[in-house]
Amino acid sequence: MSELRGKSIFLRPLTESDANETYVGWLNDPAVNQYLETRFTPQTIEAVRAFVREKMRSQSEYLFGICLVENGRHIGNIKLGPVNAHHKSADISLFLGDRSSWGKGFAKEAIGLITRWGFLHLGLEKLKAGCYAANEGSARAFEYCGYSREGLLRDQLQFQGKPMDLVLLGLRRKDFDDGR
Ligand SMILES: CC(C)(COP(=O)(O)OP(=O)(O)OC[C@H]1O[C@@H](n2cnc3c(N)ncnc32)[C@H](O)[C@@H]1OP(=O)(O)O)[C@@H](O)C(=O)NCCC(=O)NCCS
Repeated sequence: MSELRGKSIFLRPLTESDANETYVGWLNDPAVNQYLETRFTPQTIEAVRAFVREKMRSQSEYLFGICLVENGRHIGNIKLGPVNAHHKSADISLFLGDRSSWGKGFAKEAIGLITRWGFLHLGLEKLKAGCYAANEGSARAFEYCGYSREGLLRDQLQFQGKPMDLVLLGLRRKDFDDGR
């Protein structure tokens, strides 16, 4: 697992030392975690460290930090996995914890980089993601990278005390446009 370099951001494998107060603060920020499953569990340095350690050891999950090219600053995470080796498929999930980094195209770039890596380096045939129906920014970032809406699980989730649909996004290797 090596660094994946883009124009404005690069992805690098996370290590335990990345699990600092800033990272924990992101996960406890209600604006950041409103669409993340991590909000149901108290997030502490110990918990985040254990999570990173587990992913470092994993043979089927790949956790990268999203960092700015201009100064190396870590602004969020993106994960590919678990990989299903039988079906050559994997999930992708991400968050940008640093709110000042939202709306600058970083999610689009990060998804583009990891998608390319998943297809060309890992040899996968299918990548997929799920997002809360209200999370337009996430769905649009995946759609920009070629993913399409493949399904809708109605009222699958609870959001602010009300049921909400889960949007399923996916991209097949054969539909992936490497020229992007
Ligand atoms: C959702 C998230 C990943 C988007 O990241 P981002 O870097 O701000 O997104 P980008 O700048 O790459 O923009 C992607 C697209 O979504 C749009 N967009 C971004 N935020 C949006 C919002 N809040 N509402 C509507 N559209 C939004 C952008 O305009 C862009 O669309 P375009 O290609 O038509 O211009 C980021 O806001 C985030 O991490 N939020 C908290 C955690 C989270 O929700 N993670 C996703 C879980 S599935």
